[in-house]
Amino acid sequence: MTESMKGLHRTHRCGELSAANIGETVTVMGWVQKNRNKGGLVFVDVRDRSGILQVVFEEGKAEPALIEKAAGLRSEYVVAVVGKVEGRSGAVNANLATGEIEVIPTQLRVLSESLTPPFPIEESSKTREELRLKYRYLDLRRPDLQRNLMMRSHVATLTRQFLAEEGFLEIETPMLGKSTPEGARDYLVPSRIHPGSFYGLPQSPQLFKQLLMCSGYDRYFQIAKCFRDEDLRADRQPEFTQIDMELSFVDVDDVIDVNERLLEKLFREVLGVEVPLPIPRMTWQEAMDRFGSDKPDLRFGMELVNVTDVVRECSFAVFQGAIESGGTVRGINAKGQGALPRKKIDKLVSFAKDYGAKGLAYLAVQEDGGVKSSFAKFMTEEQIKELIAAMSGEPGDLLLFAADQNKVVWDVLGALRLELARQMELLDKEEYRFLWITEFPLLEWSEEQNRYTAMHHPFTMLMEEDLQYLDSDPGRVRAKAYDIVLNGVELGGGSVRIFQNDIQEKMFEVLGFTKEQAHEQFGFLLDAFQYGVPPHAGLAYGLDRLVMLMAKEDSIRDVIAFPKVKDASCLMTNAPGKVDKKQLQELGLELQEKN
Ligand code: AMO
Ligand code: AMP
Repeated sequence: MTESMKGLHRTHRCGELSAANIGETVTVMGWVQKNRNKGGLVFVDVRDRSGILQVVFEEGKAEPALIEKAAGLRSEYVVAVVGKVEGRSGAVNANLATGEIEVIPTQLRVLSESLTPPFPIEESSKTREELRLKYRYLDLRRPDLQRNLMMRSHVATLTRQFLAEEGFLEIETPMLGKSTPEGARDYLVPSRIHPGSFYGLPQSPQLFKQLLMCSGYDRYFQIAKCFRDEDLRADRQPEFTQIDMELSFVDVDDVIDVNERLLEKLFREVLGVEVPLPIPRMTWQEAMDRFGSDKPDLRFGMELVNVTDVVRECSFAVFQGAIESGGTVRGINAKGQGALPRKKIDKLVSFAKDYGAKGLAYLAVQEDGGVKSSFAKFMTEEQIKELIAAMSGEPGDLLLFAADQNKVVWDVLGALRLELARQMELLDKEEYRFLWITEFPLLEWSEEQNRYTAMHHPFTMLMEEDLQYLDSDPGRVRAKAYDIVLNGVELGGGSVRIFQNDIQEKMFEVLGFTKEQAHEQFGFLLDAFQYGVPPHAGLAYGLDRLVMLMAKEDSIRDVIAFPKVKDASCLMTNAPGKVDKKQLQELGLELQEKN
């Protein structure tokens, strides 16, 4: 039998009560976390999003009928309790914020009953994620997820506050737009009124925010939903949220300045962590050379060393072959891992192969000064010594080498460096190491499409001093683009934009667009730029990734209320789903039979 809350008004959330409230009569409402019946003495833990409160139904203090009613409560029943706050009669619970007090009830109402939940509602759940996601509304009751979502809300509120104070306007841009094939795959929405035509959901508000600059709004921001149909990973969702901004009359340093102060505020006010400013900057080239990654994790060393010149004269065919075909040989030093058993080294080799390596050469420096190695037999003693010295190798170290084209070597050693750090437990989640990566290449060669593609997007300005190479050596041109990286995660990225029509047209030409194609897709932007456009630049953060790191979680699913799984489906609603024939007909669509 459930009751109404008529006549009752909640006075406090459960977790808000403390010793300061002793003697007060309070009304709390929430879910039954636990109910322990010791015969004539019933302890009921009541939970809401603020925490847990103990209510004690005791003979002599509470009516017998009330004690009996409390004994019948079950997990996840929703209750209202009126009672008096007292100091704990039993042991104080230091694990609970409300651990010094308890409530002695005068009233108990059952507002709603509950089936037995399919898994316990508790901190750090051991229940497998598929089941939790199927019952996400129950999963979301768990304190860790509630804390994450409350933190997310706090981050969004502070961001709005800060950007408003800095003169940014919050402006919404459309979700139903035009599909633009550049970048990831678009999600398409069929049009009923224009059969055969489709809207594309935005991968980001990029073009609209540039147009807003063109229209004189000066500083824009939006907490924007974005959609990308790409392969999912722990830090990628098909729909995700950006903190997106654009600024007029600025250059790289202005964007960096306002964003450093935003990050400083968020980390100070949400986590009590001081971000030392300015955040260090590193060029893309230096990041690749030292860390094999454009989003290096600076919480540990293990930097890459280019040993091409050191091994140039040795007779190891693998190294020779790579060098002759224009590649390099680079290594990392896994300190103190020299005694790693062969099996574990083989695992590292197959890990490297997953990242495109043809193999991984190793050399373990023994305590007695000797070496255990897959290739030392092809080197003179002198060459081995030189190689160990170049790697700052000491007895007990494991040196790992990859030989290939630069891109492969970087990918492999960059990934291996992180894997070793994980195995060696070098990653401290309490430590926050921010880094700006600057001077990205403007273009990257796509083997698949047999043309250059924009590394950031086609509206990114190049460094003025590299303009001369745009025709002769496009691969060498650097962009005025920057990424903000935290602990090895790309938090955000942006660039100064091209606002000169001649450079923009040249850019499209280099990307292999004909004039007609460029106008067909981006004509409105090119046209707009003929009516007076301010120099502008911007940046967007992945809000999900930012909160993931702040909440010390490993997956963005843990900071998104209703996330999707790897195959882009929602286990709770079963989206995506089939639709009626009639709906398809209205849209002028027909399904192809699957073979
Ligand atoms: P970019 O494509 O780098 O830039 O995206 C900005 C940030 O968005 C986050 N992000 C994602 N988060 C979760 N799931 C995804 N699938 C996903 N894809 C991207 C990342 C990334 O750094 N318009 C430009 C920004 C600009 O130039 O101003 C843009 O979208 O944290
Ligand atoms: P192989 O000649 O293929 O038997 O390789 C000899 C050793 O060199 C093995 O330990 C391989 O893992 C390693 N190796 C092979 N290719 C590469 C490469 N491209 N870079 C580094 N090591 C390699």
